Amino acid sequence: MLTVKSVIAAQEIIKTWHLAHESIAFVPTMGNLHEGHLQLVKVAKTTAARVVVSIFVNPTQFGAGEDFENYPRTEQQDQEKLAEMDVDLVFLPSASEIYSSNAQTIVSVTGISEQYCGASRPGHFNGVATVVCKLFNIIQPTIALFGLKDFQQFFIIQRLVSDLNMPIQLIGVDTVRESSGLALSSRNAYLSAEEKNSAPLLYQALKTAQAAIFANSASYTDIEQHTLRFLQEAGFNPDYFAICRSHDLQRATQDDSELVLLIAARLGKTRLIDNLRFTKPTKLS
Ligand code: PAJ
Repeated sequence: MLTVKSVIAAQEIIKTWHLAHESIAFVPTMGNLHEGHLQLVKVAKTTAARVVVSIFVNPTQFGAGEDFENYPRTEQQDQEKLAEMDVDLVFLPSASEIYSSNAQTIVSVTGISEQYCGASRPGHFNGVATVVCKLFNIIQPTIALFGLKDFQQFFIIQRLVSDLNMPIQLIGVDTVRESSGLALSSRNAYLSAEEKNSAPLLYQALKTAQAAIFANSASYTDIEQHTLRFLQEAGFNPDYFAICRSHDLQRATQDDSELVLLIAARLGKTRLIDNLRFTKPTKLS
């Protein structure tokens, strides 16, 4: 496994693979790798001749007062895990390697980037879209893999790739969870022992809302209100809960059948997100 820190060094290696007509699967990450990230790498290995993983805690996707400074950085352990999986290349740039001080370009997927997580994290998805665009240009992958845990992020990257005619195939990988149902996340490390016990209630709230949707017993507005109340009573500070159509992330009506439930809530100082995608069975008449 090779590890490089400069764009030029990464491009030189990648050029030789392109010349040899080898396909490249790319997994962008911010490091502190857990089984969720490693699942993306596992799938990546089945899809292409070469696998590239980037580790870059991207400053432009963190807002003022967010956890950029404290974000867990475990580069040594991350590289050991990736070497064990026989990844071909780790790209580990510094912030100044990625962002020149006179850069003036921002990539913005308008509309959807201001909703849901974007509403409480202004500018977050512009930071994500910009860095992903730059990483795609550097690595020039055939395939790129993202977790469906960050459902809105995956949706935005799909739009980006389609809108800008990028010749990259995207693969969304299912969320890896603890046995409690809690989605794996680098931010789970911020949870106290007590918070760790209640954190799985976020996923339970999604399952309960799904059951209510299947039962057809309440309006979607009522289910949304009920879910937010449930989380508040469980000690969360909910950010949003939305019953959406999975194809465009707009609010669903009772007639829609392809649904995704999007949720975000704070538990203490930790912001947790999750989602549940499913098909609502059509009513038998
Ligand atoms: P990061 O949070 O490190 O996540 C890297 C990738 O791992 C993302 O595609 C994310 O959806 C996926 N992932 C995280 N937890 C997961 C889980 N429990 N199951 C499955 N996949 C999971 O997302 C980012 O970094 C950044 O925004 C990035 C795309 C790298 C741009 O900076």
